[in-house]
Amino acid sequence: MQIVHLSAECYPVAKVGGLADVVGALPKYLNNLDGVQSMVVMPFVENEFTKTRKLIMDYETTMPFGNRQLFVKILKNDDLGFPVFLVQIEGFTHREEVYGYRNDPYFFTAFQIAALNWIHQWALLPDVIHCHDYHTGFVPFFMKHAHQYPRFRNIPSIFTIHNGQYQGQMSWDVVDYFPWFNTWDLPLLDFDNTLHAMATAIKSAWRVTTVSPQYMKELMEGDSSLSGLLRHERKKCVGILNGIDIEEWNPATDNKLDHPYSRKTVEEGKKRNKQQLCDYFGFNPDYPIISFIGRFVDQKGADVLSDAIWKALTNYDSKINFLILGSGDNQLANGLEQMKIFTDGRFNCFIGYNEALAHKVYAGSDFLIMPSRFEPCGLNQFYALRYGTVPIVRTVGGLLDSVKDINDEGGNGIRFINLNTDDLLHSFYRATELYEDKERFQKTRKFIMKQDFSWETSAKKYMKLYEEFR
Ligand code: ADP
Ligand code: GLC
Repeated sequence: MQIVHLSAECYPVAKVGGLADVVGALPKYLNNLDGVQSMVVMPFVENEFTKTRKLIMDYETTMPFGNRQLFVKILKNDDLGFPVFLVQIEGFTHREEVYGYRNDPYFFTAFQIAALNWIHQWALLPDVIHCHDYHTGFVPFFMKHAHQYPRFRNIPSIFTIHNGQYQGQMSWDVVDYFPWFNTWDLPLLDFDNTLHAMATAIKSAWRVTTVSPQYMKELMEGDSSLSGLLRHERKKCVGILNGIDIEEWNPATDNKLDHPYSRKTVEEGKKRNKQQLCDYFGFNPDYPIISFIGRFVDQKGADVLSDAIWKALTNYDSKINFLILGSGDNQLANGLEQMKIFTDGRFNCFIGYNEALAHKVYAGSDFLIMPSRFEPCGLNQFYALRYGTVPIVRTVGGLLDSVKDINDEGGNGIRFINLNTDDLLHSFYRATELYEDKERFQKTRKFIMKQDFSWETSAKKYMKLYEEFR
């Protein structure tokens, strides 16, 4: 069975967040299953990876786009254990970031058309096309309704929602660049009077998945603008919990760590990694380190976290080290820089994106906090568990599906319900209590490192979904 993944990100080719981790790992784990061959097709980004790795020209063509003819190159990279195809389109070169350009709607439309044009002329078509997030949301529609793709009519399309907050609403002008389709299919593109990539995908794909079962429930039952549509399409919807690449994320072999460790050597190993963080960030190693890693956007709750840290360190004089690694909202970043000055060494932050530092923070911290307003899945809690770092999570989305409270049978973390400073302060208190009970803390670390959140299980669930159409 041949599966093509279409995505804007894939680690390590181009990463903004968890989407890259998923698309960089799922194909690899699918390919471990009998008879499966999967690959990734993504836009070309001009970055360190594409500048330094070997890219082979696989296909060259032109395509009509509006009233222009654009050159398209498909470049192939073979470093990841599964083929990655990068689509380079004339007029859209010099993109150094994955997103954030004014022409994003046109660019991603061109990407989807170029990718489909290329695949459509293969002698043997893929068995499934799996689209990830709204940047690929028109693909299921094109496959069913665009006149130039008759061979795609019976090929199943799967659409995965990694983040329902970014839906791809855009101006109707973009439709002028679409391949031909019948006007009576126009309503499939419309949602709330805008051209809407995610709604189009939900209406047109053969199956729609979210990255955790709980997130599907929240999208359907909560106040998301998509809830009515998803409920209407519920028969084709399912939530599948993400996994992690346990080879890439293995504290025993992680080449981004100066002091790798295994479950057997976790106490000594974490002590050394913690000492390294303490030396670098000026922390007292006797106090626990509670870290946050993530984007500074509404979703992640770092704003409320910073209020709670301030309160913990000034009002309550807590004996805790807090570390924040992240970037995004500048106002929050500036506030955090200021907070360093007034919290005598118990708070520090690194503003920016740093993959190697993230690994060191998972390894050297005692706790990892995720105060998300919503969280489709979240991968940080899995990385934390794998590195023997106790997650502290808000009970939403994939966090609810993957972290059980330590006070319950089989508990692997600390949970809290509401996103406010009081609930966060209480979770800090519970973390300190666990940290001070050395025996229980050590046992917890050993227990959580044993848990298996590898892609192996979830890849099989996707496989089952793909096979439904055989
Ligand atoms: P999201 O995709 O919503 O950002 P996830 O939890 O799924 O959230 O994935 C986040 C990924 O990005 C993880 O691999 C995490 O380690 C990484 N990450 C987030 N912020 C940073 C940062 N500032 N530096 C390095 N890695 C980061
Ligand atoms: C999104 C979500 C995150 C999820 C990731 C990978 O970025 O915000 O919760 O883990 O996609 O599916």
